[in-house]
Amino acid sequence: MPTPKKPLVIVTRKLPDVVETRMRELFDARLNIDDRPLKQAELVEAVRVAHVLVPTVTDRIDRSLIAQAGPQLKLIANFGNGVDNIDLDTARERGILVTNTPGVLTEDTADMTMALILAVPRRLAEGTAYLKEAKTAWAGWSPTWMLGHRIFGKRLGIIGMGRIGQAVAVRARAFGLQIHYHNRRRVPESVEHELEATYWDSLDQMLARMDIVSVNCPHTPATYHLLSARRLKLLKPTAYVVNTARGEVIDENELARLVEAGQIAGAGLDVFENEPAINPKLLASDRVVVLPHMGSATIEGRIDMGEKVIINIKTFLDGHNPPDRVHAAMF
Ligand code: 8YV
Repeated sequence: MPTPKKPLVIVTRKLPDVVETRMRELFDARLNIDDRPLKQAELVEAVRVAHVLVPTVTDRIDRSLIAQAGPQLKLIANFGNGVDNIDLDTARERGILVTNTPGVLTEDTADMTMALILAVPRRLAEGTAYLKEAKTAWAGWSPTWMLGHRIFGKRLGIIGMGRIGQAVAVRARAFGLQIHYHNRRRVPESVEHELEATYWDSLDQMLARMDIVSVNCPHTPATYHLLSARRLKLLKPTAYVVNTARGEVIDENELARLVEAGQIAGAGLDVFENEPAINPKLLASDRVVVLPHMGSATIEGRIDMGEKVIINIKTFLDGHNPPDRVHAAMF
């Protein structure tokens, strides 16, 4: 008997070797070994022929692309937690399921958030740059030089108290920060109690009182420019902004302008509004730490994400509901 044809799974970017090996075993996997981002025409070709598409944050799976999908495309298994790169409504209309990779990048992203919360007020990037780029040799220690600000006892305002927001709160408490948060829904009292977290129904009121603000919510139509020009102006001039979620949640140009003008003390940014472009003012400022979207960039995390993608595809192909099915209403 001829062996049945395996489903065609097209993966848009290079994934860790172990993930690709397993995908090759299970599926007719078309991989991107060179990791060259697909051109629009290549993406169109992919959705025309694939049974399953595995995109990442760098691919725009929008209405016009989905309109060109062949009838065999039934699953978009995103390699990533955020699904703002995918038009969920159009996918649903076309009967295409969407899955993501929640949970497995929580700790890594929370670690990176905490690293930025520590790095910016304590001027880690400036200190390193001074030693590495200074034209003259370091003159040695001085009591009034390179002074940052104390973290302990300060107020941290977390925007988005989901998995990652809570993991940030756990870490931040250990550093003596007071936890405040704003979320669509109040988290259960037991969680608030454990994190000693204060809920703010009004984001505006919270912003005006925080020393550090951390963005940990997804990017959705409702959170686009949540930190708008108006809201950014509510921050104290001594406040710092940290973002490891999505650049689109903050009005990046206004943030850059306010930092430059000294109306916001500094920022730690892992994500940007128009990646890979970054507002040049942010790059130029020595009060801003910038990272190239590295929140979940650990080999362990990326393998776990790949494993989730495989489980989602496999369960779906076996006729079951994939565990990480995304519904538009979730966002
Ligand atoms: C990933 C992320 O690197 O999963 C997410 O939502 O932001 C990142 O950590 C990226 O999305 C991969 O698609």
